[in-house]
Amino acid sequence: MYLTREEERILAGEEGEAKAEALRIIVKVGEALGAERLVPIAHAHVSGISYGTIGDHGASLLEDLASRGARVAVPTTVNPVGYDAEDPGVLEKAGARITPEFVKGQSRILGALRRMGADLTLTCTPYYIPEVRGIPAGSSVAWGESNAILYANSVLGLRTNREGGPLALMAALTGRTYYWGMHLDQERVPQILYNVEGGILDEARAGVLGEIIATSHKGHRPPLVNARLRDEIALREFLAALGAAGSLAMAHIQGVTPEKPPEKPEERITISAKDLEERLDKYRPTGTPDVIFIGCPHAQASDVERLARLLRGAGRVRARVVVTLSKREYSRLLANNPRIIGDLSRMGVIIARDTCLIVSPFGQPGTRVATNSYKALFYLSKRGMKVSLAPLKDLARIAVEGV
Ligand code: F3S
Repeated sequence: MYLTREEERILAGEEGEAKAEALRIIVKVGEALGAERLVPIAHAHVSGISYGTIGDHGASLLEDLASRGARVAVPTTVNPVGYDAEDPGVLEKAGARITPEFVKGQSRILGALRRMGADLTLTCTPYYIPEVRGIPAGSSVAWGESNAILYANSVLGLRTNREGGPLALMAALTGRTYYWGMHLDQERVPQILYNVEGGILDEARAGVLGEIIATSHKGHRPPLVNARLRDEIALREFLAALGAAGSLAMAHIQGVTPEKPPEKPEERITISAKDLEERLDKYRPTGTPDVIFIGCPHAQASDVERLARLLRGAGRVRARVVVTLSKREYSRLLANNPRIIGDLSRMGVIIARDTCLIVSPFGQPGTRVATNSYKALFYLSKRGMKVSLAPLKDLARIAVEGV
């Protein structure tokens, strides 16, 4: 692999052994993939930092890196963790078991990341952070977290492969990644067009559309998608589903993706409204859930405001409703309406920052969850929970009336 003089210097340990080690890993991965060189990155996003995912072993590795002087070389945001860092017990009201050992282990991870200079945003939607949205389209970044990767490539026009958490961290520490895959123009050109017939898709239908495309798409090039996604939630849920159910890193969405698609795709596939309804039928709620989960990926303040409007005048909800979002959106919510969180919690709605039901120690086999997120359905079902899918307006009705 071609390396610049500066990269040679880093590898020789002139900027510390931790940085040299991180760059050696990036170079090794790049060489294994056949990358000819490295590329500077403007930003990194590190996933896989929940104590439930990486445990004491992961915490010790991060502490070791931090103590050896590892520091991020570019602005770096991080994914949600196992609890709300400002109110660790809040998800216990939804049935999560946050033990003192869990809090201690998670704090070690957060402490190590803080010492390395990461911005403890604790959100899987870094793409809503104004500084991140300000990165010029076409820039290379190194992101973990599949929904964020899909959003970066497909909506912001940034360039990132699907990095695992450790590789995203190595890229953060060196400010570089291997020049391969989604960083190359030709790998971003779609070949297959998916023409979605029927009306405007809410987020539940957008999620099953993501599943259909992810599980039937041939090849690694991004699909070209012609669909009428109703709003930002539908866009987010479509991309999150595509990332959860398959291995794609990008979708070319007509009218959304800044890059120009080819005029004549090599193949055209039609997805009918009936295809979507039949797929959604598999997931429709059939009984009153124990928990209703909104905010995978993390909700925006406007989603919570919409939920509050839908629940207005309803009294207490029958199922526990959990909404997860970033600290930033939480603050925006309070700034827009200082009473909204108190009002919702009096109705039985639990609002948690920094975390979600998938990365927290929540639920057990058989727990019934209803959600508007295909991605949440995908992961909670893997843990043996009985998960159903419906758009927000239906979830609000179920919360009040049951099924
Ligand atoms: Fe985010 Fe948790 Fe879903 S990290 S994308 S809310 S699984």
